[in-house]
Amino acid sequence: MGDRIPLLIDTDPGVDDALAVLMAFDDPRHAVVGLTVAAGNVGLAHTVRNALKLCEVAGRDDVPVFAGAPAPLLHPARDAAFVHGRDGFGDTGYAPPARQAEAEHAALAILRLSHAHAGRLVLVALGPLTNLALALRLDPALPQRVARLVVMGGAVTAHGNMTPAAEFNVWFDPEAAHIVFTAFPRTDLVDWEAVLAHGFLHTEFERWLQADSPRARFYDAISRQTRAWAVDRRGERWHSADAFAMAFALEPEGALELAERPLAVELVGSHTRGATVVDWRRQGGAADNVRILRRYDQARFEARVRGALAAG
Ligand code: BDR
Ligand code: CA
Repeated sequence: MGDRIPLLIDTDPGVDDALAVLMAFDDPRHAVVGLTVAAGNVGLAHTVRNALKLCEVAGRDDVPVFAGAPAPLLHPARDAAFVHGRDGFGDTGYAPPARQAEAEHAALAILRLSHAHAGRLVLVALGPLTNLALALRLDPALPQRVARLVVMGGAVTAHGNMTPAAEFNVWFDPEAAHIVFTAFPRTDLVDWEAVLAHGFLHTEFERWLQADSPRARFYDAISRQTRAWAVDRRGERWHSADAFAMAFALEPEGALELAERPLAVELVGSHTRGATVVDWRRQGGAADNVRILRRYDQARFEARVRGALAAG
């Protein structure tokens, strides 16, 4: 690993998770030390299998994959198979991965790796925060060993994608998100609204997917269904939430505008459960606990996506 920054990715692959993980594999400054996997976009059996398959396609079977929470902490939630396909990877019927997940639970792996890389570990959460919340309940001192936590989640002015007010990752397990945002003194947050402001053209993306690489071919196949759905719903731009969060995680220097504020998760609202309530005017007196990414260098983001696909 040498001088590389250790990076642990908690994820629920998922079409956009897959692109984010490929971006991390492609980065020379970071070493991916593991993938901890939760249920979210689809059930855990699929998200774990997808994580293993992705490692195989990328030639990264050295990266351990840990299965974690099969369901949210308290309340069952609907998955996002309507976006990502029933298997979470566009229902292409890919050949099963040769490898299996490690025996260790994801929450325990997070704690162990936080000790192994204490003070240096960058943790990137791309799915519901269930595994991280479990790890925090087991060991509340976890934030002291994590250099930086980056979360893809929330909608900072309540323009959600799952409900009018809530974004999928926080909506899926609001109690877990509450535990994480209250335990970490500062979280770097990439919310759904920032994602919408950083789309790239489908026509460009399709061109990158023509690259002569196994990664591009695989990604072309697994993202096809979701891209068709997205064109229908959102028009000419493709929005890859987790890939965008990963760009900020890997290259924080690309941030053009950040805002630090207090954030709380709504747990009980009949219309707003899972909303991320940002105290923009700091009226409540709580300490700032999130650093919200508002604008990011689009060219850097797109260059990383091209790199991830080996599209030059
Ligand atoms: C988030 O929800 C999931 O469907 C995506 O993988 C991403 O992490 C976007 O709201
Ligand atoms: Ca995700």
